[in-house]
Amino acid sequence: MTSMSDIFTAAYGRTPDGVWSAPGRVNLIGEHTDYNNGYVLPFAIDYRTRVAVARREDRELHLRSTFTDGEVVASLDSLDPASMDGWSAYVLGVAWAAADAGVSLEGAFGLDIVIDSQVPVGAGLSSSAALECAAGVAFNELWDWGLTPLALARLGRVAENSAVGAPTGLLDQAASMLGQEDHVVFLDCLTEDAKPVPLHLREEGLGILVMNSNVNHDHATGGYGDRFRSCEVGAGALGVDSLREIGVDDLDRAATVLDAETLRRVRHVVTENERVLATVETLRKDGPRALGDLLNASQVSMRDDFEITVREIDLACDAAVAAGAIGARMTGGGLGGSAIALVPLSEAEAIAEAVRAVLAEHGLREPTIFPVVPSQGARRDV
Ligand code: GLA
Repeated sequence: MTSMSDIFTAAYGRTPDGVWSAPGRVNLIGEHTDYNNGYVLPFAIDYRTRVAVARREDRELHLRSTFTDGEVVASLDSLDPASMDGWSAYVLGVAWAAADAGVSLEGAFGLDIVIDSQVPVGAGLSSSAALECAAGVAFNELWDWGLTPLALARLGRVAENSAVGAPTGLLDQAASMLGQEDHVVFLDCLTEDAKPVPLHLREEGLGILVMNSNVNHDHATGGYGDRFRSCEVGAGALGVDSLREIGVDDLDRAATVLDAETLRRVRHVVTENERVLATVETLRKDGPRALGDLLNASQVSMRDDFEITVREIDLACDAAVAAGAIGARMTGGGLGGSAIALVPLSEAEAIAEAVRAVLAEHGLREPTIFPVVPSQGARRDV
């Protein structure tokens, strides 16, 4: 593999000042709860986005990547989210978000940046957050911002919301910044309190398979925004600021106030929050082998109540469980993207094979199935 330093030198004809990286993520459980001030339980995966960076004498940001030709150039004196688009918006958006949050960019020097990523794009594994967080840790150090990992995660979210235009929550960036080996990040999106919870996968002989449906998703448009608005409407009709304030006991009352579709959306969020808390409790008391029912119940809730799964994902999850997975569920924003299966390592290959066979039987696109390992969050590599 060509090193990031070599890639940088090939692009700019000099050596970089450093290389930083941040991972994609998988959400173990807690879907569409983040922007409802609820709970999430993601982990950072062993697929990373890297940025190699060197200071410039002027105030320009030059961006190149290994996945497309050409160079994007922006001035630190005129960063404007309205004019950002494509992959460079994830990087420029973070610089803009910092300035917008009151970090002074006045004395900042320009940068030459080159990006390389192993995180598959459009798979629901947060390639965008990986890029925002890799840029965030690099900027934080080079421009001496002194921000905490959580503060950098927030900037990534603002970049995503403002520069990219997707109304997403803090899940992806928190996982990418705060992930630890063999741990999930238990994040309360209301208080933004984040705690690592041990997974003990390896010692239990377990692993996680990603099953990428290869059905593309796009959060800036379409169903994600619709779900976001349904939750807002539901909370408004129930007289609360966010669905975090609603418990399972309130669902009977909700049924008298909400239309059938909004009720289903609200029920997913409310029950999903409960499942995240139960997952944390179960991990602590009984370990990951006991998570099957919770993962499967989450999948059913996303399929029937939130209606964000596609047929490929439903079939893949059912096939994985039928073939011996402990549990399986869609992960991420949905409407395509990926599912995960918690599997005994000794059966991982057979389960993957069974899933491929079922999708082929239905004449559906072949999924890409691969293991992921809970890994360390954003960091300086070189
Ligand atoms: C996407 C968003 C996250 C979160 C998930 C659903 O990944 O970026 O903020 O809302 O969908 O849980």
